[in-house]
Amino acid sequence: MNRISVNVDGTTYEDEVEPRLLLVHYLRDRPALTGTQIGCDTGNCGACTVDLDGASVKSCSVLAVQADGGEVTTLQGLAQDGEWHPLQRSFHECHALQCGYCTPGMIMAARDLLRHNPDPSPEEVRYSLRGNLCRCTGYQNIVQAVLAAAAAPDSVTAPAAGGEQTWP
Ligand code: FES
Ligand code: FES
Repeated sequence: MNRISVNVDGTTYEDEVEPRLLLVHYLRDRPALTGTQIGCDTGNCGACTVDLDGASVKSCSVLAVQADGGEVTTLQGLAQDGEWHPLQRSFHECHALQCGYCTPGMIMAARDLLRHNPDPSPEEVRYSLRGNLCRCTGYQNIVQAVLAAAAAPDSVTAPAAGGEQTWP
């Protein structure tokens, strides 16, 4: 077992984990942040996308021990003071989801795009989301939602602030 300390969505968690534990399982099972989805477990679908120390990662391809000392932002850390992140609003307003399973990963990948390119073209949006699959094939509205969020002045936000928490 390894002792890790990870800040997730502004709250620091400390825990003993097995070296083989995937970050996505850690996020879902320990802080119970089940907004991060598991669609394939093989790095293909992007449903598990989160931010780790400023980089967009597929959390099924990262070990929890690799996040030790780091900061993770999940979909559930995007809302601020009860207000949705612009991408959450635009996905809602543009009807950019059907079953919604891909949505957390789509939004996290889109957030990463907008941080690096705040005014993307439709082609750049499609290219940036190439690692995220939607089984409901709602890509047209997803692209529209990302473009709509890019037009919002508050499209890039920091993770929510939080306190300290220790398990078990
Ligand atoms: S669950 Fe991670 S890429 Fe599919
Ligand atoms: S909305 Fe169903 S998988 Fe994308």
